Amino acid sequence: TTVEWEAESYDMGGHDTYMHKEIHEQVDAVDRVLRGRIDDRFSTVRLGGLNLDAREARGVRRVKILGCGSAYHTGLIGAQLIEELARIPADAEPASEFRYRNPVVDPDTLYIAVSQSGETYDTLAAVQELKRKGARVLGVVNVVGSAIARETDGGVYVHAGPEVCVVSTKCFTNTAVAFALLALHLGRIRDLSVADGKRIIAGLRKLPEQIAEVLRGEEEIKKLAAEYANAKSMMFVGRVRGYPVAREASLKLKEVSYVHAEAYPASELKHGPLALIEPEVPTVAVLPDDDLLEKNRATLEEIKARSGRILAVAHREQEKADHTIVVPRNEVELDPILMGIPLQLLAYHTALALGRDIDKPRNLAKSVTVE
Ligand code: G6P
Repeated sequence: TTVEWEAESYDMGGHDTYMHKEIHEQVDAVDRVLRGRIDDRFSTVRLGGLNLDAREARGVRRVKILGCGSAYHTGLIGAQLIEELARIPADAEPASEFRYRNPVVDPDTLYIAVSQSGETYDTLAAVQELKRKGARVLGVVNVVGSAIARETDGGVYVHAGPEVCVVSTKCFTNTAVAFALLALHLGRIRDLSVADGKRIIAGLRKLPEQIAEVLRGEEEIKKLAAEYANAKSMMFVGRVRGYPVAREASLKLKEVSYVHAEAYPASELKHGPLALIEPEVPTVAVLPDDDLLEKNRATLEEIKARSGRILAVAHREQEKADHTIVVPRNEVELDPILMGIPLQLLAYHTALALGRDIDKPRNLAKSVTVE
């Protein structure tokens, strides 16, 4: 089958950069990854290309997700979603690390390769090694018919449309949504209740409008970017659902603006990185309104006590922060999807303020097809 890519052509559509265009395309892109897949009758989703029947899905004891760069970060989100919704132990690992360490390949583990291009060499090599050892490997891929899509046993297409800018935005978001669909599907075959299935489906359906709402706050984020663009380095922190968001936001900022950035689980700050905190090293804290909010607020106090500036991404204004970007509330499991979007805009506007070559950052390639 072909994807509806005609609708989104390669022209700039009035935007100055592909990155800006692709950030704004996310409203439609997320709609497209959901389209035709929701099954209200059973409060689940139908994933036509999965090639994993219900009996096989029930036999999965562990999930291992492999990818590189932003794809790896979506894998971190995917692993959390699969653990939460399907209660299957899951984790993500950079594909290169996996393939270099002679991994134990377990027949009851479901392996998932994630890739926008479907051509990244390290990810492809990991898939080939797994296949050689008899593992079942699925792909979560954007480019239809790409090498990884062909070599895997089945999978979920991400339907983000063509992504031209080297740094990933709409494909990142769509891949995270694709993982939510897969997690919901696996969950509903196992122990996720009808009520929880309905709740997640309702949350997924709200995403396009909520993304549009986040994008309407662009002017405010642009001002914040100007304020933080002179930072010596930026620290990104989050706990559990906020942590992969922090990782991706830190990668995005360094890729596109060349501002040095680091990401840490918020609780790890006190084990070393607190030494870096000073007014020239601001922190971006991702604080969803979940059961970890109080712990996250305590982290903000630790940072304030060291005179660090704080930009919070949260569901409500944070007193301890110098600035808060407020994002709309959805179901807690889906928080990583929405909370990443304002930080794409932050990276974009920081790069713009610093005069960077946004669509083609120095030293980087859209897909790395060599070892
Ligand atoms: C390159 C790009 C990254 C991307 C990574 C994985 O390093 O610069 O933006 O996340 O490859 O690409 P893939 O196509 O496998 O998702």
